[in-house]
Amino acid sequence: MKALVLAGGRGTRLRPITHTSAKQLVPVANKPVLFYGLEAIRDAGIRDVGIVVSDPREMLQPDLRTGQRTTVMVNSQAEIRAAVEDGSRFGLRVTYIEQEAPLGLAHAVKISESYMAGEPFVMYLGDNLIKDGITPFVREFEQERPNAQILLAHVKTPSEFGVAELEGDRVVRLEEKPKQPRSDLALVGVYLFDRTIFEAVHAIAPSKRGELEITDAIQFLITGGRRVRSHVISGWWKDTGKVEDMLEGNRMMLGGIETDVRGEVDTDSAVEGRVVIGPGTKVERSRLRGPLIVGANARIVDSYVGPFTALGDGVELSHCEIEHSIVLERSRIHDVPSRIESSLIGKDVVVCASDARPRTHRLMLGDSSRVELS
Ligand code: DAU
Repeated sequence: MKALVLAGGRGTRLRPITHTSAKQLVPVANKPVLFYGLEAIRDAGIRDVGIVVSDPREMLQPDLRTGQRTTVMVNSQAEIRAAVEDGSRFGLRVTYIEQEAPLGLAHAVKISESYMAGEPFVMYLGDNLIKDGITPFVREFEQERPNAQILLAHVKTPSEFGVAELEGDRVVRLEEKPKQPRSDLALVGVYLFDRTIFEAVHAIAPSKRGELEITDAIQFLITGGRRVRSHVISGWWKDTGKVEDMLEGNRMMLGGIETDVRGEVDTDSAVEGRVVIGPGTKVERSRLRGPLIVGANARIVDSYVGPFTALGDGVELSHCEIEHSIVLERSRIHDVPSRIESSLIGKDVVVCASDARPRTHRLMLGDSSRVELS
């Protein structure tokens, strides 16, 4: 059994973070979303993993001093290769499969045919988080040997997902992001296939949005009388495509952490609940209320860090309050008069107050940023 992890795509809903970073590398509880998937695959006993990555793409980025737009290359492929390397540190053998453009999930399967070499495989969407891993689903597939097995979950907004219609436990119809969903059962981004999926991905045509849809390929199997099993999962699952979902994922993963303090906390600080503090980090005259995680070489001075917050390596906080948020590496937040909440703050960002009069907001924000002031 092999695995296929999809880490191409554009990440448009997480802009501006994904203007410069692959969406699968945005961290939840200080660990890239993609790594949770790779660990789940390893824990299911799979060693050989093909990771689908997209070519570098060109982007127009404004030069903030001149106001002119220049073309920059965004290379999320290089970032993913640099982060995962050959997979050995996860206990995996990773092969990269290049997709020329995000032409659809079934297109990603199509270009992976020679890598799979006839073996069954689990396909894992690199932006999906499944708290309890995938081991039981892989075992079930190995025992039952259907042509395909899909995972489903009840959701509140089915029209944002692939949706399944069941008769008993038999899948009768699948539809990608239907306007009028026939059920509330969304396709979770983990699929198990045998080699018959390749007949399907060759047979289908692109959808209205121009992608080869995996839902159409599975529908092709169903219509052709192949055995497609489904499993409705009860555990926690999230597609981390949007900020709210990242924050919820962060909350879920931090809920399970154990205290591990490697940095220094001075005697004027108070630490409550489960807290992870990385090496080289200094906490002075501050209050930390877990569950929360702080990376290495960070500095927290005269501040409050509340539950479900993840601060990356080298983050600096002084005279501020923050909770339910994710702050990426090296960002600095100081002297902010009101509490920062439910926020996703990128790398090397500065958020600060100024005494200058008149009192105004001075902003320097990248494309697709969002700021809520009150
Ligand atoms: O998360 C579950 C949903 O994932 C399912 O319910 C849908 O049926 C399925 O189509 C998919 O929908 P999304 O709109 O969330 O897919 P997205 O475009 O975000 O792509 C999922 C992952 O696959 C993401 O890590 C990017 C990667 N990808 C995507 C495309 C279209 C590729 O590697 N290549 C591609 O061509």
